[in-house]
Amino acid sequence: MDESQAAPSPRKKLYIETVGCQMNVLDSELVVARLREDGYELTDRISEADTVLFNTCSVRQLPEDKVYSALGRIKHLKQTKPDAQIGVLGCMAQKDQAEILKRAPHVDVVIGPGQIARVAELLKQAREERTPQVAVSLARNAGSRLTVVDSFESYDPLREPSMRPSPFQAFVRVMMGCDKFCTFCIVPSVRGPEQSRSPESILAECRMLASQGVREITFIGQTVNSYKYRSGDGRNTRLSDLLSAAHEIEGVDRLKFLTNYPNDMTDDLLQAVRDLPKVSRYLHVPVQSGCDDVLRRMKRNYSVALYDEMMARIRETIPGHSISSDFIVGFCGETEESFQKSLRLLERSRFKNSFIFKYSTRPGTKADSLYPDDIPEEVKKRRNNDLLAVQTIISQELNREFIGQEVEVLVEGPSERATRGLPERGPIPLLVGRTQCDRIAVFQGAERLIGKLVKVRVVDATQVTLFAEPVIFEEPQALDQHGRVKLPGLPIITV
Ligand code: SAH
Ligand code: F3S
Repeated sequence: MDESQAAPSPRKKLYIETVGCQMNVLDSELVVARLREDGYELTDRISEADTVLFNTCSVRQLPEDKVYSALGRIKHLKQTKPDAQIGVLGCMAQKDQAEILKRAPHVDVVIGPGQIARVAELLKQAREERTPQVAVSLARNAGSRLTVVDSFESYDPLREPSMRPSPFQAFVRVMMGCDKFCTFCIVPSVRGPEQSRSPESILAECRMLASQGVREITFIGQTVNSYKYRSGDGRNTRLSDLLSAAHEIEGVDRLKFLTNYPNDMTDDLLQAVRDLPKVSRYLHVPVQSGCDDVLRRMKRNYSVALYDEMMARIRETIPGHSISSDFIVGFCGETEESFQKSLRLLERSRFKNSFIFKYSTRPGTKADSLYPDDIPEEVKKRRNNDLLAVQTIISQELNREFIGQEVEVLVEGPSERATRGLPERGPIPLLVGRTQCDRIAVFQGAERLIGKLVKVRVVDATQVTLFAEPVIFEEPQALDQHGRVKLPGLPIITV
């Protein structure tokens, strides 16, 4: 048999696990796109894989510990498949660098978030040279001035539709990094300085996604509402301008943006959310604490009064809005009185939902070096549960206000309830979609509705889910050429 007839070498099987924020979800999409170009194919079974990548998060200790134990568990992979490769990508790679190889010497590549475009090249190099490769961006320490290594100039948003939350939804990075340096947060030192991307390149990416069938685009940045781009001709583009421009793109039905910083919640942005019908009326604005002393030690640069004032402006400006927030409990020196202030802020703000985190000290941050992590774990846990209990009641009350209302949802796909085999009513599948204010709605509907905007009527609600029914119209009675009734008035679903 001559060479040209030889069977093609089997495609390398890639397993990738992603933890952390939407930045990581997008980074994983870019990694898979790169590796597909290099002949890899995805598997969702780690036992089948010959390349295993973990895209990691450093924001708290727990997700880091989980990655180290997962690395321990897959050590045996190399015994059965000596050519298998293992990689740690993302924030932990940037933070721990070669330290990872000390704890897990069987790792082949350690790649920081700014270097992931080189993943194929680094895996190849590790294979050929038989030595692990570490690629991270120049480090910067909290508070120091920075050396910019990664930039949008070299950013190539290669896209991989199969890695998206759904074929109709995509993230678009509009900013990199963060310059806020909250004292508890590791992000600025692992993700580098804040940079905004040019509107031309953002909009070109949005158009490309729309042409691939994407209906919902979420702009992402660590503090996305701090977006500001100054073009060569001196023109400034704000997030509100970007939303207006993206609003013109045909095929895109929904626009969202995450995560907001309270100080940058300007009126032009609130007005854009109010005036642009495609923009979701949902704002995620982390507050972290309801106590000024704690906010000061966190270096959040705003007061509780400013946050309350911002909430009032949102309420006045945007009818039908919903807001969610992040809280940290048990931050260094958080007294019972400080905590009660967070509880009261949560009560009066009536967030749609809140993400509540127990403070986890992060080596390399200002808080870690300045303040002792002095709140016992049980107290952190109790405060976490207390906030959660109040939030659950509020979320349920707010969701129940929708009962009897008609809402428009963008249908995302089959409901997990259906895929988990929970009881369904009849042969029509359960679908899940999101309302304009980001509430999850589950309803029965035909699969052809996936990816479409559909009107549904809410019939019941829990704190996380609206249960709905499709809005039914009586089809006008059609007459045939003889003037006879052609069809009985069958109900049809509006799309
Ligand atoms: N702006 C970012 C924030 C990243 S961290 C974004 O895109 O969401 C996400 C949340 O994790 C923060 O808002 C904060 O509530 C929480 N967090 C960050 N550092 C933490 C730490 N050291 N301990 C506990 N929670 C933390
Ligand atoms: Fe972290 Fe604060 Fe920036 S939470 S991502 S340093 S705004």
